Amino acid sequence: MTKKIEAIIREEKLNDVKDALREIGIVGMNVFEIRGHGRQGGITLTGRTGTYQVDLLPKVQLNIVLSDHNVEKTVETIRRAAMTGQEGDGIIFIYPVEDVIRIRTGERGREALMYEGDIDTRRPG
Ligand SMILES: Nc1ncnc2c1ncn2[C@@H]1O[C@H](COP(=O)(O)OP(=O)(O)OP(=O)(O)O)[C@@H](O)[C@H]1O
Ligand SMILES: [Mg+2]
Repeated sequence: MTKKIEAIIREEKLNDVKDALREIGIVGMNVFEIRGHGRQGGITLTGRTGTYQVDLLPKVQLNIVLSDHNVEKTVETIRRAAMTGQEGDGIIFIYPVEDVIRIRTGERGREALMYEGDIDTRRPG
């Protein structure tokens, strides 16, 4: 089975998370700049004109499609690299993926997710 990890993290943690993922062999990913809110529904800032509420905070979203057996290791790697312990560290969603098709070759499923030297070719299963 193929899964998609959608990790929403602090902007300033992107480089740490990318480095940690590269170390475990994650190659393919998408990165989006997003805005969102979680449980607190934003933060209160104090400016010259008084305090105001910012309800949508900038975050970074990483999408990674990978084999089932690499999900836990990847999620733990993201958590370790993205965590500060303060509110707003982010959230990780995991979805099932129906299929993957590499446009150039027509390869499908796991084959379409194989990259030279990546986590899947290192630990097939
Ligand atoms: N239910 C949700 N659906 C989609 N995105 C969400 C959801 N909840 C949180 N997010 C995303 O996660 C970000 C919030 O992360 P945040 O770390 O504040 O989560 P939290 O659940 O409030 O945990 P914490 O207590 O650590 O703050 C939001 O900016 C939003 O992008
Ligand atoms: Mg929060």
